[in-house]
Amino acid sequence: MVDTSVGNARTSRLARDWATLCRLLRERGLLASLEHVWTTALIRAHAILADRKRLAWEAVPSAGYAPVRRNEVVGESAEHGFDYAPTPCLVLDWVLDALPIAPGETTLVDMGSGRGRVVLQAATRPFKEVVGVEHSAELHAAALANRAAFPSALRKARAITLMNRDAAETVLPEGPAVLFFFNPFGEEIMGRVLSRLVRSDAAGTLCVFGAVRGIDRLAGAYGLAPVRLPLATRIRLALLSPMRIALYRVPERPGLRSGSNIPAAEERRPASASSP
Ligand SMILES: C[S@@+](CC[C@H](N)C(=O)[O-])C[C@H]1O[C@@H](n2cnc3c(N)ncnc32)[C@H](O)[C@@H]1O
Repeated sequence: MVDTSVGNARTSRLARDWATLCRLLRERGLLASLEHVWTTALIRAHAILADRKRLAWEAVPSAGYAPVRRNEVVGESAEHGFDYAPTPCLVLDWVLDALPIAPGETTLVDMGSGRGRVVLQAATRPFKEVVGVEHSAELHAAALANRAAFPSALRKARAITLMNRDAAETVLPEGPAVLFFFNPFGEEIMGRVLSRLVRSDAAGTLCVFGAVRGIDRLAGAYGLAPVRLPLATRIRLALLSPMRIALYRVPERPGLRSGSNIPAAEERRPASASSP
């Protein structure tokens, strides 16, 4: 019997793409529609040409979009959380290659770690620790399965920690840290996280934001200092990344703009101490 399921899936994806394009053209005009087409093409090119081969070992494929069901989410931020989509491996490489850090002394935390792609790709570098924080029980279970399948020959990080919890409530690591945010949640939660960051002893912490809408305004409001990536990295990202990357550092004396009603930060404890 001929298997028609692949052909059907392709046809329905094309139909969905076409419907989205028509809606965008109607609602947002030609320029926004062209931008959408280019971004979608880049996402698929990364997935097919780079990620697929590199992640062949995964137990649960981290590729593709997945909606997050609100009833399987821990914590209080469910309604503010966005759905799952993975960071392209090459984009992560380009950013990590360019960060001004000493990996052996640095903890990388993926805030909203989904199926664990960023955590496990970062674990192929000699970080002190890589941590994933994910509020969806289902995505967290997939990340655990992927960690179990992660080839030991690839692993360079000293520790890999995965937590099923709300990133907004998660304690931050001690010492040098990189926090990675690929469009995990809306402004309210992002504001709460940034507020905790600047009020705690986190000077020097680097924050990588991928596709976070309004991040320059928000980061400015919390006194984060923009960090310029090397020119070659900026060009690469501008031409070949489907998501905009912004890099900020928590400065020594951050200035919180007056009038903020974001709650004060909690005490700072090591991330691994809270690991289940
Ligand atoms: C766009 S995906 C990014 C996945 C992964 N970081 C990557 O780059 O491959 C955003 C993820 O954030 C998670 N998320 C949203 N709000 C969260 C919260 N408050 N705490 C923890 N995870 C959250 C979502 O469930 C989703 O898996």
